[in-house]
Amino acid sequence: MAILYDAASKTLSLHTRNTTYQMQIGATGHLLHLYFGRRVDAVHMDYCIIPSDRGFSPNPYEARYTREISLDTLPQEYPGANSGDFRVPALDCLSANGAVGTDLRYLRHEIRAGKYALPGLPAAFAGAGEAETLSITLGDAATGLEVELLYGVFEAADMLTRAAIIHNNGTSAVTLNRVGSLCLDIPFGRWELLHLHGRHSMERNAERAPLMRGMQTVESRRGASSHHHNPFVALLEPAATETRGECVGILPLYSGNHRTDIEVDQTDSVRVVSGINPDMFSWQLTPGDSFAAPEAAFCFTDEGLGDLSNRLHRFIRRHIIRSPWKDRCRPVLINSWEAMLFDFDADRVMRLAEQAAALGVEMLVLDDGWFGARNSDLEGLGDWTPNAAKLPGGLKPLSDAVHALGMKFGLWIEPEMVNEISALYAEHPDWALTVPGRNPAFGRNQLVLDMGRAEVVDYLYGVFSALLRDEGIDYIKWDMNRNMTDVYSRALPPDRQREASHRYMLGVYDLLDRLTTAFPEVLFEGCAGGGGRFDAGMLHYTPQIWCSDDTDAIERVAIQLGTSVAYPASTMGAHVSVCPNQQTGRTVPFGTRGIVAMSGTFGYELDPAQLTEDERRQVRAQIDRFHRWYDVIQYGDLNRLTELADRGDFTAWEFASPDKSRALLNVVTTHTRANHPGAHVRLRGLDPGAMYKIDEICYEGCVNPSMDVPLDGAALEGRVLSGASLMYAGFTLPPLMGDYPGAQVSFIRVDTDGGVG
Ligand code: GLA
Repeated sequence: MAILYDAASKTLSLHTRNTTYQMQIGATGHLLHLYFGRRVDAVHMDYCIIPSDRGFSPNPYEARYTREISLDTLPQEYPGANSGDFRVPALDCLSANGAVGTDLRYLRHEIRAGKYALPGLPAAFAGAGEAETLSITLGDAATGLEVELLYGVFEAADMLTRAAIIHNNGTSAVTLNRVGSLCLDIPFGRWELLHLHGRHSMERNAERAPLMRGMQTVESRRGASSHHHNPFVALLEPAATETRGECVGILPLYSGNHRTDIEVDQTDSVRVVSGINPDMFSWQLTPGDSFAAPEAAFCFTDEGLGDLSNRLHRFIRRHIIRSPWKDRCRPVLINSWEAMLFDFDADRVMRLAEQAAALGVEMLVLDDGWFGARNSDLEGLGDWTPNAAKLPGGLKPLSDAVHALGMKFGLWIEPEMVNEISALYAEHPDWALTVPGRNPAFGRNQLVLDMGRAEVVDYLYGVFSALLRDEGIDYIKWDMNRNMTDVYSRALPPDRQREASHRYMLGVYDLLDRLTTAFPEVLFEGCAGGGGRFDAGMLHYTPQIWCSDDTDAIERVAIQLGTSVAYPASTMGAHVSVCPNQQTGRTVPFGTRGIVAMSGTFGYELDPAQLTEDERRQVRAQIDRFHRWYDVIQYGDLNRLTELADRGDFTAWEFASPDKSRALLNVVTTHTRANHPGAHVRLRGLDPGAMYKIDEICYEGCVNPSMDVPLDGAALEGRVLSGASLMYAGFTLPPLMGDYPGAQVSFIRVDTDGGVG
């Protein structure tokens, strides 16, 4: 049993393989948080919480003459507002009589086999025996609200999930102004915050800083989880590195406006409240109604950030992504966007496909521009019929011709948007989010559809299900190219307008759910101007997401390794594009571009006709290497061998197969220096007692004008080293010279007599 209740001490313990999460029903009925950390069995950690009288921290009525008991200082599971805890609340609401807040007390709990589901929302799932659920119901007498706190316990995966469902059992409506998915009080210790910040074309760069007293917030108010502040956060003890130290990771499964508040209070206790952003949000809960807050997954490790990442990666792959593609080798694709933008016709697309097929590319993706009057980003969004001038025969002859080359056929769509210049907008102007009497703000010349309206979602389902049924489409790139403004739904009454942003997300999830359920074999790739909606909510439906519109390999090193803090390589769309790079103007060797793109779901975004003969040879070699190593890259463990904050001369990362039989080392020089000692790294995730053969060393983009020994991988290839030597003594590459050279080195376990093990 992963969930235990001790009636004598009123303690609830959730055990995973290596961690324990403990709560207690306090003397006043408030649900207290006792502990989250390394596994502790058979002890109630209530002795750690010392009651003490702190001035200006009020006492619950039942304990009004016992000044040592205060909600303001006790660690809690789901604090309400305006009832004695001045820290950030998990639940904030307004009663019909105007009273603010709740005083939530324990009512009952239930332990169930299996993992709870959340209707209409993405949620982690479990196979038989993989998870248990704890449901704890708290009640507020004044409003009649009941709060069902849901805990999913994934014992083997060492992960927990939380969600909350608010039921109105009262007699009048209550306005919910804040509904946290999770509150985590950490009463002791010093912590640093790691979060993934950025901007368009620079998503998810990792930043780490000590927590200050007071409030720190990671949030999006953009209607999408955003390029700017990913919903994932981690707390790390200051000494934590990739391989050691305590870390807590929180992974919200939500793609809209999110907010995580991290408050350090008067006693240095840390409170984390994560959920829908209360800005731009409220929800009218009428008697009998329920509201579900999105789920958040979370975990603890004392083995460093690398272990935290791999735990999250495994969980996302196994328990969050539901597409059957999650376990399959993704086709190496060529995307038309950077090669042709809007300037193509069927012949040009076929030439691209033929050239790519000859190089071993497995799927052609026709990006933006194939529909409506779409010759630029000024018009056409919403009109999802083929552009007659570019594709006079429609899509089917094209997909047939691509299939005849032995390739799959993929298509770009942007369902949630409409151009002002489009037939859809002319017919349904009220379907766009606009405020009556005010001209809306434009973003990339387009408006946002009101996805909270059932008829909009039904219409889009009709359009795209027909496309998927009739046109021979194997893959969809689902884009979303602006953030939301003028959020006003013409389908909602005035007092419900602050529901529109969340209803939008529910509509998006509904459409994704329906399409991916009806077409499970179609591979969906999420996108929002690159990685503007790269989150665990979207990954529930789309097993991969275009990581960034920045395809510059050096920028991608920071973006992809930042992303890797929470998300696995199998989720990161990554392509080799041309140089000088279209976003940065930088020139990076073709081989280095391959190393970086291969660390995600691999593809190309260029015109093969423009490649040199040498580059064409490299494409073939890259695809061959990717095929030999994709399973280790996409389903192995990731080891970041250089610390994220270390902006040294090179960055190194390694994929290791879970059975420790194979490892792929990747090194990219980000700053070439004279007289360099060479990149030295210590591998991880190998068996120290096993022997490993250096299978292949590929130096990429190196010029070595004055080296005495020319760079020749073959010199070391075949040499057998021990796991211990590779992990403890390490592996040194010779100085790599030139602009942004790189190297990829593969290791395979062998029997001691030299046979491959
Ligand atoms: C977004 C995507 C790009 C491309 C364009 C097409 O920016 O991120 O990859 O699909 O839209 O308009």
